[in-house]
Amino acid sequence: MSEGAMLATSLQGARAETDALFRLLAPDAIYDRPIPERNRLVFYLGHLEAFDWNQIGRVCLDMPSFHPEFDRLFEAGIDPPPGQGPQDQPSDWPSVAEVEQYSQRVRARLDAVLDHAPPGNVQMVLEHRMMHAETFAYLLHQLPYTRKQQVAPSAIPTGGAEVSAGEFIDIPAGIATLGQRAGEFGWDNEFDCHTVYVPAFAIGKHKVTNGEYLEYVRQGAKPPHFWVERGGQWFFHGMFSETPLRLDFPVWVTHREATAYAHWRGLELPTEGQFHRAAYGTLSEAASGTLSEAASGAPANGERFYPWGNDAPTAAHGNFDSHAWDPQSVLAHSPGDSAFGVSQLIGNGWEWTATPFAPFPGFTPASYYLTYSQNFFDGEHFVLKGGSPRTPAGLLRRSFRNWFRPNYPYVYAGFHLIAN
Ligand SMILES: [Fe+2]
Repeated sequence: MSEGAMLATSLQGARAETDALFRLLAPDAIYDRPIPERNRLVFYLGHLEAFDWNQIGRVCLDMPSFHPEFDRLFEAGIDPPPGQGPQDQPSDWPSVAEVEQYSQRVRARLDAVLDHAPPGNVQMVLEHRMMHAETFAYLLHQLPYTRKQQVAPSAIPTGGAEVSAGEFIDIPAGIATLGQRAGEFGWDNEFDCHTVYVPAFAIGKHKVTNGEYLEYVRQGAKPPHFWVERGGQWFFHGMFSETPLRLDFPVWVTHREATAYAHWRGLELPTEGQFHRAAYGTLSEAASGTLSEAASGAPANGERFYPWGNDAPTAAHGNFDSHAWDPQSVLAHSPGDSAFGVSQLIGNGWEWTATPFAPFPGFTPASYYLTYSQNFFDGEHFVLKGGSPRTPAGLLRRSFRNWFRPNYPYVYAGFHLIAN
């Protein structure tokens, strides 16, 4: 199959996935705004297609617009500071029928010309859609259960295994490669590829658990957003139901909460470089020296493409790629451990880092999408690495960087602790 045909097939698959997410809404929930700092859900119905149209139809192929008003209305999402959400009303938005008609027209037009679009741009709209498949899950999560269709809960391993808190793994000093190789697909913030020297440090083997965080809450800390207390018992507010809080599951918290918890323990969050070192580093780096990935086709500095090695991600490696809606035990998925034995650096929740989202040396904004990253280089967003249960496998590449505000409580994100 040609690259173009493969991308077209992937796009069809991604459309089917996002279409299925909208079908999880109760019939009249499309005009709800489950997260105050985000648009009403109907925006996303139009946004995915408007983005594809604006990028491929308008920018790449210079096609005439058939609906300029919707191209603009659905062009870009929002990320205001907390408490400064938009004030629009449902009646300010078009009808679902109008939006769906627009979407169908966009799809038909683009499918007819997709072969003529540069593969890198098709990859971009594909990844944009995949990212929204995850962030739409955050929105869906915040809807009351009565506002979404019930889905049979995914099987959660039973048994309340105790996690031995405080197990730390020594990571020797070494080189970490950040960013994507030139010539490979990546978003603008993944370039330029470069190396950083990371001094020795120790990292928790597991993600911080609900059980560990519960001690902190008992000392007076505010409980995480996803926890609910009923009759003196703690529950996890899952996607489709509340379940008794599992102490061996990762705690999902904001960056501020993660940082405060780490400091309470006298510890830190990992930097982006430390994350890379713990996740992708090996003891064999000296052997491969400075041989570049581009020259050899293999990772440089003895590093791996994924924590578990260079094999493509599978369900055995972690809780990602939409197999589950909610978190699982921090003890699960040991085949996904890193070379140093650190668990779940990818999957079961993004990993907060201490690193503010900022450009890599040599950064230039992508000419076709100038605002993708640089609007967020404001010191008000932090880098997350890894992935959550709803992160598609295609976004698990080493160089992918995610970012959110430090007090945004809706992202599926936990953390490992660092002792420097
Ligand atoms: Fe978007």
